[in-house]
Amino acid sequence: MALRTIRTEGDPVLRKKSRPITEMTQKLRNLIVDMMDTMYDSMGVGLAAPQVGILKRIVVIDVGEGPIVLINPEILETSGEQTGEEGCLSVPGMSGQVTRPDYVKVKALDINMEEVEYEGTELLARAFCHEIDHLDGKMYTDLVEGELHKVSYEDEDEEE
Ligand code: NI
Repeated sequence: MALRTIRTEGDPVLRKKSRPITEMTQKLRNLIVDMMDTMYDSMGVGLAAPQVGILKRIVVIDVGEGPIVLINPEILETSGEQTGEEGCLSVPGMSGQVTRPDYVKVKALDINMEEVEYEGTELLARAFCHEIDHLDGKMYTDLVEGELHKVSYEDEDEEE
């Protein structure tokens, strides 16, 4: 298990656009495993490659329903609306209210470069939006309604 260093807000890599993956390599497989390990170690529910300093379109998510790997993800469909607390491993100890769709359908490639589709509601829908935003250099802090505040104890399991 190799943990990667999570970049924090202010690091310019978090504001850059990531590049699509064209071919799976052993190096990328290792990166994906490291991203999973790093996410679990930090008790996050999602992590995007730019957060470990790699500008590639790779996301890992686990909202408690098992690991999901998304390569070159695209949002196909959204509906509804949810407003709730959101956090980010790149903005440690903070959270804020963000409105996101309540249903999100995504298309991506899996670790074998096979096409996959996922549908998510609630926290999973939020995680899809939050993590895919990272691939375009967008941070949830841009979307926070009201003040970004220090995370309270109950919010800790929602850090992304
Ligand atoms: Ni994040």
